[in-house]
Amino acid sequence: MANILITGGTGLIGKILTQCLLEKGHDVAILSRFPKSLKLVQHYHWDTSRRIIDVDALKSSDYIIHLAGANIADKRWTQRRKRDILESRVKSTEFLFEMIREHYPNLKGLISASAIGIYGAINSDKILNENDAHCDDYLGNVCYSWENAVDKFQTIGIRTVTFRTGVVLTKSGGALSKMIGSLKFGVGIILGTGRQYLPWIHVDDLCELYKKAIEDCEMSGTYNAVSPEHITYEKFVEQAIGISNKRIFRIRIPSIILKIALGQMSEMLLKGSRVSPEKLVKSGFNFKYPTLAKALKDLLIEQ
Ligand SMILES: NC(=O)c1ccc[n+]([C@@H]2O[C@H](COP(=O)([O-])OP(=O)(O)OC[C@H]3O[C@@H](n4cnc5c(N)ncnc54)[C@H](OP(=O)(O)O)[C@@H]3O)[C@@H](O)[C@H]2O)c1
Repeated sequence: MANILITGGTGLIGKILTQCLLEKGHDVAILSRFPKSLKLVQHYHWDTSRRIIDVDALKSSDYIIHLAGANIADKRWTQRRKRDILESRVKSTEFLFEMIREHYPNLKGLISASAIGIYGAINSDKILNENDAHCDDYLGNVCYSWENAVDKFQTIGIRTVTFRTGVVLTKSGGALSKMIGSLKFGVGIILGTGRQYLPWIHVDDLCELYKKAIEDCEMSGTYNAVSPEHITYEKFVEQAIGISNKRIFRIRIPSIILKIALGQMSEMLLKGSRVSPEKLVKSGFNFKYPTLAKALKDLLIEQ
């Protein structure tokens, strides 16, 4: 069993992942800007903008799981917010790298989040894999710089695994609640044409992946963390409507309205491509939720 430090472990994925790793018998600690005192999980303080860290967090860690980063969907993308989104990921990774290189080079591995945003806000039928180039748009460049900062750990002999994660589906919070929360009121909302692809992953599969990345030393480099089924935004909403078993009134929000309301951030809602998890599958990973029907049944019905 391993000692695992999770940055951003207080967030949507981090909380569920912490629970999952504890259940598997690992020791988990959390690195946070606002540490709390909890019984089961030790919290340590860091502040990457001021380059402050409680080094006790690093001393006893075998692995770091790096999830920290300003949320990309919480606020409008002003210049300042865009800088926060970038720096909270890249500078935090660089800071961790310097601390580990100088003081704790025995770390066994760094497992980091990244996102399918690396392939860009584009509409295309091409199936993208890890060998495709990053896109030269805002999120593409954020993910590219973030992954480059992660790769630096390899130069000091530390194994890295990076998960280019699709939209993570959870029982509460996150993207799913935003996408289909309106079904409770009898309304299904389709954004733009609805033909944009929406690569997704059930949070339980994602947690299994992080666990596998720790336990399977053969895993290394970047992997697309998305389910194998390619589905468009409209079909996604339609499947949720089917499961809700209610009479639902459909509303289509035209792209132009979203562009006016959300500015540049609207791109990530209005565009999307197909992304392949083939490399993961070849590494021996079996998805518990390979289809949206199975994932939604678990998330929306089996409460
Ligand atoms: N959720 C998804 O659908 C999804 C999809 C693709 C990729 N990802 C990536 O996976 C990671 C985790 O996602 P999540 O949904 O769990 O995110 P989240 O709920 O927003 O949590 C991220 C955590 O990062 C820390 N954080 C926030 N702003 C920060 C800042 N300015 N500087 C340093 N730390 C900051 C916070 O922890 P403290 O307040 O405790 O410091 C927060 O709890 C993120 O990097 C995200 O980009 C998520």
